[in-house]
Amino acid sequence: MMKDLSVRNLSVTYLSGEKHVRAVDDVSFTIQAGDSLGIIGESGSGKSTMINAFLRLLPARTASVQGQVMFGEDDLLTCSEKRLRELRWKEIAVVFQKSMNSLSPIHTIGRQFEDVYKVHVPHPDKKEMHDLICSLFAKVNLNDRIYRMYPFELSGGMQQRLNIALSLMFSPQLLIMDEATTALDVVTQGQILDELMAIEEKQAITRLMITHDLSVVAGSCKKILVLYAGRMVEFGTVRDILKAPAHPYTIGLIQSFPSLYGPKTDLKSIPGTLPDLAQECPGCIFAPRCPYADEGCKASRPEMQALEGIHGAACHKLGGISV
Ligand SMILES: Nc1ncnc2c1ncn2[C@@H]1O[C@H](COP(=O)(O)OP(=O)(O)OP(=O)(O)O)[C@@H](O)[C@H]1O
Ligand SMILES: [Mg+2]
Repeated sequence: MMKDLSVRNLSVTYLSGEKHVRAVDDVSFTIQAGDSLGIIGESGSGKSTMINAFLRLLPARTASVQGQVMFGEDDLLTCSEKRLRELRWKEIAVVFQKSMNSLSPIHTIGRQFEDVYKVHVPHPDKKEMHDLICSLFAKVNLNDRIYRMYPFELSGGMQQRLNIALSLMFSPQLLIMDEATTALDVVTQGQILDELMAIEEKQAITRLMITHDLSVVAGSCKKILVLYAGRMVEFGTVRDILKAPAHPYTIGLIQSFPSLYGPKTDLKSIPGTLPDLAQECPGCIFAPRCPYADEGCKASRPEMQALEGIHGAACHKLGGISV
């Protein structure tokens, strides 16, 4: 059965010393089975926190999580540990942002892939297992020679590609990638994204892709979620958002990517930095950096407003912004 992922009012607060840091603040969205969502936003905007919250991987002592994360009929935040493990095992695969050193140094790559395979298939047919593992290497553009090699013999990018390969071993329904291709060169990155999309043509995978790189989203995702300081500021199809970004932050992000705008436009960046997330912010969290903000923006928090189709943005000035 195909499952939608539906996030409802997700908030995450970290206790940091005496302070409560609001890393994710009331995020809601739905992504349909088989769809691909790019999650963008500058460093510190809560992207990793959000996906780690989905899988209950945040430190229980310091992170408090509220809301719902429905994957089909299961709420990932409240289902039993057993059920979560089962889902993590069979249906959800993750490539973490800091997964560079996740391979064990003392076993060959082939052995490590075999070990994972054997957990799922206790009495494997050796040839079937070997062929499957080699086909995974091929998916991320690695040669079969990798089978007998040790992690220390590989470059960082090769290790990262192996993490992606491993995540594909059991055809996940939901694939979450946190900056999984960022460390790779453009050519390799492109090949892997092409491969992912080819796989998705054949089997429906729901993919969540966190990246700083808007061109990765543009090239490989159908939807975009823009996160700023833990708040969702815009959501929509890649086409709508790249053609007509509505939120001033999204506009700034897009303008700071020259490749999408052609060489003649100045590279504009967004002046200022993320706000202190431990401070209460009753108004629009982007107001201090926003060229369009007025007193009203600082006074009340903008709700997500529907634009065309599924496109929506949280801004008091929608319609009054000229780019
Ligand atoms: N364990 C933690 N304890 C306290 N604060 C944390 C913790 N982890 C993250 N934070 C804070 O939460 C906020 C969001 O961090 P997060 O790692 O989710 O950002 P991100 O969008 O993934 O950034 P990047 O693009 O750099 O990976 C930041 O302000 C960060 O300082
Ligand atoms: Mg991160």
